[in-house]
Amino acid sequence: MRTYAKCIIVLTIFTILVILYFNPKTRINVKSKALSSINAAADKTEPKVSIWISVTKIAHGHLLTKFRRFFKSLVNQRGKCQAVFELNVITDNTSRPTVDSVIYEFRKQYKEALLMLVYYDFQDVLKIVENKIEPLKRFFQSSKGSYYSDDVFYLSPALHLVAPSSLKKAIIVDVDTEFQSSICDLNSIFNNFTKTQLFGLAPEMSPVYHHILWKWRNYKGDKYKTQKHSNFNGLNSGVIMSYLERIRKSTEYNRLISPEWISSAVQKYLFKGHLGDQDWYTLVSFERPELIYRLSCGWNRQLCTWWKQHGYAETFDSFAKCTEKIHLYHGNCDTPIPPK
Ligand SMILES: *[C@@H]1O[C@H](CO)[C@@H](O)[C@H](O)[C@H]1NC(C)=O
Ligand SMILES: *[C@@H]1O[C@H](CO)[C@@H](O)[C@H](O)[C@H]1NC(C)=O
Repeated sequence: MRTYAKCIIVLTIFTILVILYFNPKTRINVKSKALSSINAAADKTEPKVSIWISVTKIAHGHLLTKFRRFFKSLVNQRGKCQAVFELNVITDNTSRPTVDSVIYEFRKQYKEALLMLVYYDFQDVLKIVENKIEPLKRFFQSSKGSYYSDDVFYLSPALHLVAPSSLKKAIIVDVDTEFQSSICDLNSIFNNFTKTQLFGLAPEMSPVYHHILWKWRNYKGDKYKTQKHSNFNGLNSGVIMSYLERIRKSTEYNRLISPEWISSAVQKYLFKGHLGDQDWYTLVSFERPELIYRLSCGWNRQLCTWWKQHGYAETFDSFAKCTEKIHLYHGNCDTPIPPK
């Protein structure tokens, strides 16, 4: 019996040694080191850029490739900026080791003290925001049978409930993006917000809202039939600047996120949305444009051309035109980056 126990102990120690030997990156280290730098950074009150990204079911499709490109560009385009990047990753337990390994892969490209990594389990996050995002799901869901984990795509308008209450500003980015400029330049645009602005988003560059609004436009008459009214082309949620500090205090926000307001706006515009949070920002921009900072199209250069083959062959290019400097590519609908 005793030799049996000894055997077990020896075997356990051996196994641990083997694991340590073949897996020297010890994932926990990456996190705890990064976390210890939180405190160092907080002490020095260094500027911080708080970045939020959802990465669930990374094994599916091309998500890993996308996340790798996103992360690489985030660190490589840092430029001279010395702000700490606080990368908040909303993920699931099975994706997390993969996310860790990507961050480890590019470790030579960043100073560890300038990167903080914070993980959130998507289920914990959804529990916090469930009630708040319920109306968004009700009005703006693409298909009934979608995954529970896809609910994280409705999260952004309620991020202030998830983030620590001391966090004042956040940048929420889709995983299918690639930075061409430093995210610090984007973060500094918060200084350009007027006193009333809560969110910053770039225009939607496809005719999707032009399409969704056709009924409403018909009903309004000729004046609204052309795409000249570019305010009605909507917004894209691939990049969102969220002024959390103001959102927490805003009674306007609370009214706009309520099922009553959403329902009335949907009726007013005869609006059949399917793009989640983006539909909400778009309706808010129609009704309360003063709450949204209109970010340059160069900060969310969308590349999807799906609508070009779906009834908009002739006018697509006029919607998708962006003559601004490109700071970020958004390879939406699985479009390769860089563009051909
Ligand atoms: C994920 O891991 C955490 C910590 O180990 C655990 O508390 C949580 O229940 C796990 N979630 C799932 C869905 O397995
Ligand atoms: C933000 O404001 C600064 C200072 O007024 C100005 O130089 C800069 O061009 C503005 N940036 C944007 C994106 O409007």
